[in-house]
Amino acid sequence: MTARIAVLASGRGSNLQAILEAIRRGTLDAEVVGVFSDRPAAPALQQVPEPLRWSRRPSGFPDKTAYEDALAQAIDAVRPDWVVCAGYMRILGDALIARFRGRLLNIHPSLLPRYRGLHTHARALEARDADHGASVHFVIPELDAGAVIAQVRVPILADDTPETLAARLLPREHALLVAVLRLAATGALAEQGDITLCHGQPLLNPLLLDSTDRLNP
Ligand code: GAR
Repeated sequence: MTARIAVLASGRGSNLQAILEAIRRGTLDAEVVGVFSDRPAAPALQQVPEPLRWSRRPSGFPDKTAYEDALAQAIDAVRPDWVVCAGYMRILGDALIARFRGRLLNIHPSLLPRYRGLHTHARALEARDADHGASVHFVIPELDAGAVIAQVRVPILADDTPETLAARLLPREHALLVAVLRLAATGALAEQGDITLCHGQPLLNPLLLDSTDRLNP
């Protein structure tokens, strides 16, 4: 059955675009049923027709709880199988996470558990890491800390800046997110406590995306 995907995005929306392209090409059996943003001007919103867009400024609500109640209700209304944070730059509250727990995914631009939070590319360079990458994980209340499903690695080159590194990683992020959603859409993924089950088996290590865009143990 075609998976119903809700996407949360705050900015550019290139990951959303990758999802939409994979659906259009027929390589991902899914439907984007809503795009949700904390920034009404987010370019991501423009990638779907108006009826699929939801955006509210959190500053228009009395507090974060009220904002997230409204957001959660709007997400629920589109009956998603999966809720995907693709460049959603706010920390989600416990109530929203509890509501969608087990079907709430995030893409983060680092090889978790390295570099939770912001400025991941600069931090990988400062640490003189040999490689960098991105992770797709289940969302739990602790920031960027849920069970990691899959990762992709890119090399760090001697003359990299945070910008060149981010630019090298981004197309690999897109491939990673689409590959994980393909697994999710077939019903192969589940969260059990702090581990990922893939086809019913616990993943001891994250799956790794290879150069042909396949996920391997
Ligand atoms: C992506 O690089 C994503 O990994 C990152 O924001 C970017 C969004 O790009 N997410 C985070 O940093 C979450 N902590 P996009 O809007 O073009 O998809």
